[in-house]
Amino acid sequence: MLTVRNLVVSGGKGASRVDIVSDVSFEIERRKVLGLVGESGSGKSITSLAVMGLLPHPQLWVRGGSIELDGADITEEPPYLRVERGHGGVSMIFQEPMTSLNPVVPIGDQIVEAVRVHDGSTGITARNRAQELLEMVRIPDARLQLTAYPHELSGGMRQRVMIAIALACRPQVLIADEPTTALDVTVQMQVLSLIRELCDTFDMGVLFITHDLGVVSELADSVSVMYGGKIVENGPVERLFNVPLHPYTSGLMNCVPDPSAGHRRFQTIPGQAPKPGEITKGCRFAPRCRHAQAVCTTDTPAKVVDGPLHSAQCHFPIARGAS
Ligand SMILES: Nc1ncnc2c1ncn2[C@@H]1O[C@H](COP(=O)(O)OP(=O)(O)O)[C@@H](O)[C@H]1O
Ligand code: SF4
Ligand SMILES: [Mg+2]
Repeated sequence: MLTVRNLVVSGGKGASRVDIVSDVSFEIERRKVLGLVGESGSGKSITSLAVMGLLPHPQLWVRGGSIELDGADITEEPPYLRVERGHGGVSMIFQEPMTSLNPVVPIGDQIVEAVRVHDGSTGITARNRAQELLEMVRIPDARLQLTAYPHELSGGMRQRVMIAIALACRPQVLIADEPTTALDVTVQMQVLSLIRELCDTFDMGVLFITHDLGVVSELADSVSVMYGGKIVENGPVERLFNVPLHPYTSGLMNCVPDPSAGHRRFQTIPGQAPKPGEITKGCRFAPRCRHAQAVCTTDTPAKVVDGPLHSAQCHFPIARGAS
């Protein structure tokens, strides 16, 4: 449904221009969840804001590539994008519902506002639809909760309200940017299973953004791994977890604590992710990669494939079974 091809997002002008997101491509399919993972600063949120047409102009803009929804290019035409973004198009839920919800307006009124703008209904019809949406996201006593203020709800409930507002637009594609990061683990699981259920019930495709590989393994059908503004590996979730090709993917997996592994040092990837424009030649992961060789600092890695759906950008991909 949503196809992003060779997306480039840039900031700055003239000689100070830098590419924050480079050559990013992915597809979101109906009833499928694509997990977009990577460290903080890798460009995940900027990618999603570009898809939504919400980049902070004039600082950041789409410099290249295409974003297509159902075959129609939504990169170039803001008025069309406005419609698509609002109705039957792409909806987004953000990380921290407390900053996205208006603290002085009851949640019912905030959902009604979304229903009124995107569905065109008013009065009792809009109110009933708001209640229906709260029921869809499993808020108990939905009718009573319509009058609650955000601070009267728990973090998990607030995130459900954000999901209800996103659903008011009857989206084909839902983008969720770290929607469970601020929640504790049990509530996180409930919100994840709700997103999975809604994806099936409403025939939606989901782009799920997170830095947490554990969450991706629970929810996603396929994964794209992002580093320094580029996608370095993508593939079906099981394949990518069992046979990672890129040293960065393997490094991220080693960082996930394993309670069954007995007493061992907690692993990290040494160094820090590059800032946009910091590395312009070769592989952006080279300064932190223990497999790096001289060519990695001079030549851009070509694509290597492992079957039709699994690929990575690396000069020396990890051999099967190695770590
Ligand atoms: N408005 C902006 N202007 C310039 N650079 C930005 C802006 N917003 C974010 N960035 C930079 O873009 C990079 C990617 O940011 P972001 O997409 O938020 O990362 P992630 O969501 O993966 O943590 C970061 O290096 C960040 O500093
Ligand atoms: S191209 Fe080289 S530096 Fe980059 S990930 Fe592969 S082996 Fe490491
Ligand atoms: Mg982010």
